[in-house]
Amino acid sequence: MNDEAAGADRPAPWWVRGIVYQIYPRSFQDTNGDGVGDLAGIIRRLPYLQWLGIDAIWISPFYPSPMADFGYDVADYCDVDPIFGTLADFDRLVAAAHEAGIRIILDFVPNHTSNQHPWFLESRSSRDNPKRDWYVWKDPRPDDGVPNNWISNFGGSAWTFDAATGQYYYHAFLKEQPDLNWRNPAVRAAMHDALRFWLDRGVDGFRVDVIWHLIKDGEFRDNPVNPGYEMGRAEIERLLQVYSCDQPEIHQVIAELRAVLDAYDGDRVLIGEIYLPLERLVAYYGENLEGAHLPFNFQLLQAAWDARHIRALIAEYEAALPDGGWPNWVLGNHDRPRIAGRLGPAQAKIAAMLLLTLRGTPTLYYGDEIGMEPVPVTGADIRDPWELNEPDLGLGRDPSRTPMQWDRSPGAGFTEAKPWLPLARDWQDRNVEVAMNDPDSLLSLYRRLIALRREEEALSVGAYLELAAEGDILAYQRTYGDHVLVVVLNLGHHAMPFDLPPGLAGEVIAATHGARDGARLTGRVEVAPDEGFVLRTAPH
Ligand code: GLC
Repeated sequence: MNDEAAGADRPAPWWVRGIVYQIYPRSFQDTNGDGVGDLAGIIRRLPYLQWLGIDAIWISPFYPSPMADFGYDVADYCDVDPIFGTLADFDRLVAAAHEAGIRIILDFVPNHTSNQHPWFLESRSSRDNPKRDWYVWKDPRPDDGVPNNWISNFGGSAWTFDAATGQYYYHAFLKEQPDLNWRNPAVRAAMHDALRFWLDRGVDGFRVDVIWHLIKDGEFRDNPVNPGYEMGRAEIERLLQVYSCDQPEIHQVIAELRAVLDAYDGDRVLIGEIYLPLERLVAYYGENLEGAHLPFNFQLLQAAWDARHIRALIAEYEAALPDGGWPNWVLGNHDRPRIAGRLGPAQAKIAAMLLLTLRGTPTLYYGDEIGMEPVPVTGADIRDPWELNEPDLGLGRDPSRTPMQWDRSPGAGFTEAKPWLPLARDWQDRNVEVAMNDPDSLLSLYRRLIALRREEEALSVGAYLELAAEGDILAYQRTYGDHVLVVVLNLGHHAMPFDLPPGLAGEVIAATHGARDGARLTGRVEVAPDEGFVLRTAPH
């Protein structure tokens, strides 16, 4: 299972070797002076992405939307919101990206629509409307009204009463995001058509939003109380999400989505957003790999930054993968605190080296490659509905969504207007232009590692073998045929010795500390604080 993902008879699909870069389009590049990024902006920045060397961009939603959850409330699955441009802009983006050798992955949001979607307007218009059953409607319970105890992921009850028709509708997120009823075959058919709309326009795959939520318990039983809940945490954590998501029938639904993609040529990829413990997560590959190609692995987003702990979670993940299931790793996204803020600038380099040398498709989040840190967003600047619903718990996602820092100009090269979220204070020093010209920058390291992963099959598709190490050192070997690379990472701020396996000698081909580059190493190596390097040991 450790070598080629797809077996010997067929070359591995592009997404096995590929590197994915997530773009939050509101914050990437504004071209029309409204302070919000747009599709034309992504086209403008393709040369940068090509220079960086990534293989695919996943673009967060740009569909028509009232923006209650910044595009994750879709009012039309088959168009572009005017704030981002037009379908013609989208077609231009696909053509230009493909010309540049970059694939396009869309964000598909099937669990819920906007409450302004024509389907929901119809559904709520009367109890006997043909689309009534496209959403989840329930009668009030005699005692307290709400149909059960389920909580919205953004706080409060997950049920909203509709006075006109006397029933409640379910929303796992905002009340402006009613959940679709995926047990209804007409809903499935309509959503499959939406996928085909984009597949026909040439997209290379989808990242499917909250895919584990699509099917809910048939009896809508109450979720059990979470005995480990602590005050100060998000309200959703009060309950264990036993009945509201991750139901057995979900796997059939995903297999059907996958079949829609498989009817097209070109290895269109299906990625699933799934926050579940490992043993539940890997079920999303499907029993016979007919599920998601890449159920997102978010382990690194939440892991304590500790060598032993991370070594163990890599081992657990590798062991849990089904035969032929291809791994993947994610370091950041638009919902989680930025990695450079969590770890600091020195360890952000170690994290980059880890992400780009592990076995599995890496996904990186825009701005993490220049070490963007969480930007404090307060008072009237707050935009995230979660922060507005559950203030001051540190749940807000605005700090991870601020404008990309391109250069020193006012607006950081992102916009000539007032940006929709504030710029980081350090944008004049921390930006793409400055980092590109600094060989020791995080960005230069990212670019080097991306190039290396492309050159070295051992890094992209080679086997993973952990090496014994002590203290803060995390070390492993990646092997493909007679090519052997060794990765040594110091996750701490103190110098640490590391013993290369006996008889093994090699040359440093990528390093966080420039002075180490090109060094020939053997035996015991003194690893500097916050240092990481990749060593090539096999004949070349
Ligand atoms: C996913 C998205 C998040 C959104 C939520 C509801 O978790 O990543 O941004 O708010 O789904 O669609």
